[in-house]
Amino acid sequence: MELLLTLFLCVLACLFGGLCILGFFRQRRPGEPPLDKGWIPWLGHVLEFRRETAKFLQRMTQKHADVFTIQLGGFYVTFLQDPLSFGAFVKESREKLIFGYKGTGNEHSILDAASQKHLKGHGLQIMTETMMNKLQNLMLHHLGSCANQNSWKEDGLFNYCYNIVFRAGYLALYGNATAQTEGDEEKARAKDRTESEVLFHEFRKYDQLFPNLAYGVLTPKGKREANRLLSFFWGTLSMERMKSKENNSGWIWDMSHNRGEGVQESMIDRHMFVLLWASQGNTGPSSFWLLFYLMKHPDAMEAVRNEVLKGTIHNLFEFNLTHEMLMKTPVLDSAVEEVLRLVAAPLLTRSVLQDMTLKMADGREFLIRKGDRMAVFPYIAVHIDPEIHPDPFTFKYDRFLTPEGTKKTDFYKGGKRVRYYTMPWGSGVSMCPGRFFATNELKQFVFLMLVYFDFELMNPDEKIPHTDHQRWGFGTMQPDREVQFRYRLRY
Ligand code: HEM
Repeated sequence: MELLLTLFLCVLACLFGGLCILGFFRQRRPGEPPLDKGWIPWLGHVLEFRRETAKFLQRMTQKHADVFTIQLGGFYVTFLQDPLSFGAFVKESREKLIFGYKGTGNEHSILDAASQKHLKGHGLQIMTETMMNKLQNLMLHHLGSCANQNSWKEDGLFNYCYNIVFRAGYLALYGNATAQTEGDEEKARAKDRTESEVLFHEFRKYDQLFPNLAYGVLTPKGKREANRLLSFFWGTLSMERMKSKENNSGWIWDMSHNRGEGVQESMIDRHMFVLLWASQGNTGPSSFWLLFYLMKHPDAMEAVRNEVLKGTIHNLFEFNLTHEMLMKTPVLDSAVEEVLRLVAAPLLTRSVLQDMTLKMADGREFLIRKGDRMAVFPYIAVHIDPEIHPDPFTFKYDRFLTPEGTKKTDFYKGGKRVRYYTMPWGSGVSMCPGRFFATNELKQFVFLMLVYFDFELMNPDEKIPHTDHQRWGFGTMQPDREVQFRYRLRY
C-alpha cells in the first residue's frame, strides 16, 4: 500500500513538474506583454497559427495591440508588431547577442565572409554574368531547333518561371559539366539541362512536403519520401560529385572548403542542400509573381519595357546584359520591391538568451523572459499596413519611386518615418546574404523575357491566384493554383 502511494505521488510530481516545464501554469507577471495561452492546454494557438498565420496574427494584433505573448506548442513567443520599434530586434550584433539565432558562430562567420566576398561588389558581378549565361542556355536552347520558331508555346507560368530561375541559379552556384568529360561544349550544356531538370523536379517534391515537415506533421509515407529526397540531394550536391564540375561559384566553394578541421564531408554535403534550399526556394516563386503582376498591369509592363529596351538591341543572339545595365533600372527595381512587399511573408524569430527589457519607440517597456522566443511578422506589421502603404493589396509598380524617378525610401506611420518599410529579406544578423544576387536574378529573368519573347496570359481576365496558406512564414508565398500563359520568340 505504502509502495503504491509512493508511486502515485511520484507520478503526480512528474506530471506537475512536466506541466511546469511546459509552461502550463504560466501567468503574466507585472511589466510583461499581454499573455494569450489559447484554449488548448500546451498546444495553445498552434493549430490556428498553422492554419491561417496571417489572419490569426491580425486578430491577435487587434486584440492585444503591438506586443503580445502567445503559446505555440512548447514555446512562448512574443510578437513585436510595431514597426517603429523594430530597431531593438534588428540591431542585435552576432558578438553581443540577447536574441540568439540558429547555427553556430563558426558557421555564420564562414557564411558572412563568403557572402561578403562573392555576393557583393566584384564577386556579385561575376555571379551575375554566370547567371546570364545559364539563363540564356535554358531559355533559348530549343528555339534554334524548332521548325516554326515563331509559333506560340503554352505553359503554366508558375512552373515555367520556377523551373528556369531555379535551374539557372543552381548551375550558376554549383557549377556545370565540363566539355572535357562530356566530349564537347554542347554536350556539356545538354547534360547541365538534363541534370538540372531532374534536380528541379525532386526539389519541387521536397518543397511541397516542406510546410508539413517544418510543423512535424508529415505522414509516415511523407517522411519516407522526405528522407529519400534528402539522400538524393546530399548525393547530388556532394563534395565528391562537385569535383567533376567546373565553375562552382566562389560562394559555394568557400562554404564547402573553409570548414575548418574535423568537419566531416557528410556534414558538408548536408549543408550544401541547406544552401540550395535557401538560395533557390524563394527566387523562382518571386519571379512568377513579378511576371504575373506585370502581365496583369499593362501600364507597369509598358514602363518596365520602355526602361529595359531603351538601349537598342541590334543582334538578338549577341545581346549581353551587363551588370552596369542592371544597375540603372529604377522602374524595374520598384516593381521588384512592390512584388516582394505583396508576396514575401517570412516569420523572423529569435531565441531570448537572457532576461531583457524591450524598449518601444514610444517609451513603453516590456519585460521578456529568458528562454522565450521573440518574433516579427513584417507582412502584417508593415507590408500591408494601409497607413504605411496606402491601398496595400493593389500592385503599384511605382510605389517605390519618387516623382523624380529615383528610389523612394520615406514612408510614415503616425507621422513618424518608418525605417523598416518592407522586410522581404529578414533583418539584422540573419538578413538574407543573397538579396543582391536574388534581385539581379529576378531582373535578368524579366529582361530576357522582354527582350526575347512576346508573352501573354491565356485568359486576359485571369484573377490573381490566392496564396497557398500553408506557406505563411516560410518566405515567398506560392500561388494556390497554376496560371496558363503563352510565349513566342519576338524576332
Ligand atoms: C527572392 C529571393 C529570396 C528571398 C525572398 C530570401 C529571403 C530570405 C529570408 C527572409 C531569410 C531569413 C532571414 C531571417 O531569418 O532574418 C533568408 C536567409 C538566407 N538566404 Fe535568402 N532569400 C532569397 C534568395 C536568396 C539567394 C539567391 C541566396 C543565395 C545565393 C540566399 C541565401 C540565404 C541564406 C544563406 C540565408 C540564411 C542566412 C543566415 O542563416 O544567416 N537567399 N533569405
